[in-house]
Amino acid sequence: MQEKKLEYVYLQQLKLLFMPLHFKPYLNAKAAYKGGKSLDQIETKAEKIFKLSSNENPLGSSPKAIEALKKHIDTLNIYPDNSDERLRAALSTFYEGRLQDSQFITTNSGVANLELIVQGFMDEDSECIYSNPAFGPYFEFPAKFGARAINVPLTGDNFDLDVDGILNAVNQKTRIVFITSPNNPTGTYISKQDVDRLVEGLPDHVVLVYDEVYYQYADAKDYVRALPYVLNGKNVIGVNSFSKAYGLAGLRIGYSYSTKEISEYLRKIRRPFMINMLSLEAAMAALGDDDFIKKTVALIHKEKNYVYHELDKMDVKYWKTQANFFLVKPKLTPLEFEAEMIKYGVMVRPVAGFGAPECIRVTLGTREANETFLSAYSKIRNKVLL
Ligand SMILES: Cc1ncc(COP(=O)(O)O)c(C=O)c1O
Repeated sequence: MQEKKLEYVYLQQLKLLFMPLHFKPYLNAKAAYKGGKSLDQIETKAEKIFKLSSNENPLGSSPKAIEALKKHIDTLNIYPDNSDERLRAALSTFYEGRLQDSQFITTNSGVANLELIVQGFMDEDSECIYSNPAFGPYFEFPAKFGARAINVPLTGDNFDLDVDGILNAVNQKTRIVFITSPNNPTGTYISKQDVDRLVEGLPDHVVLVYDEVYYQYADAKDYVRALPYVLNGKNVIGVNSFSKAYGLAGLRIGYSYSTKEISEYLRKIRRPFMINMLSLEAAMAALGDDDFIKKTVALIHKEKNYVYHELDKMDVKYWKTQANFFLVKPKLTPLEFEAEMIKYGVMVRPVAGFGAPECIRVTLGTREANETFLSAYSKIRNKVLL
């Protein structure tokens, strides 16, 4: 009897020796989000490179944020605020007290906010809905939790949201519906009427994640943010970032706001000390930098009209934008077009990974950058009759 027992223990230990690492099987399904190329990955003979591939601010960063960074650079030995209370209070002031401090969830980027939301609401047996062409994390993050992401594509030449299609795709397993307005990579937006219809039609067990990181650039009369829905107590989360209009992409800081119930829940799973001290200080200062936002938005609006005018003259297929970038459909394949553009020192972004396999996304830049893009477009077009 004793011998049998020993044999059993020995076999168990032997088994342990041959156990493989436990890779979650569903993680093989999707690769991690791939950002655009960085400047040091580019080889070109052009004298100057214009990076129009990552929707960054062509005017740099908020000067008030830079001032704050300089002021705090000597205190790196001190831990940042654990609770992010000061940033949440600054956000509440920025929203003129309409949202309370407790309604904000701050994270070290907009993407990290999306990840936290997915972590909070999705598991192996759940589903989310998104609409291609779309920002990759909406379908890549759920895959990390073994969840299913259902694509209900945008429809027609204007990339309209298929509200009925989304409502029909909702079932008991649905946890999140992602929408983006202005949308990356199309630059198009969702009308208030459509957002109203979606919010009204979604059942109570579904959270609407409304990604509005480009909201500062939107000027359509019927554009609406997530804010009125959150104020009405709907299960809506408005996702924001300091990477775009504030020009702080390199610092990695973002936030979202929602009902008290949802935000307090998400803060429970948020990693403590998530945001570094410099990012916290820069973000708080940036929130008070209206001038910089006004300057940035004015530049983008002026430049988009200039670029439309020039593209019309060349009879190019492009989409009008509510963001700081626009989508074009060149006659070359996107990868060939990207390579041709690099020869002239212009970085653009093929967006096959976003569900637009024939298109290129171009960030609006300074007049010099846009002129270089347009002149390169004209030369490539003449060469290959785009
Ligand atoms: C639609 C959309 N949402 C969220 C983000 C995340 O921004 P970040 O992680 O830089 O804050 C981006 C960035 O490109 C975006 O385009």
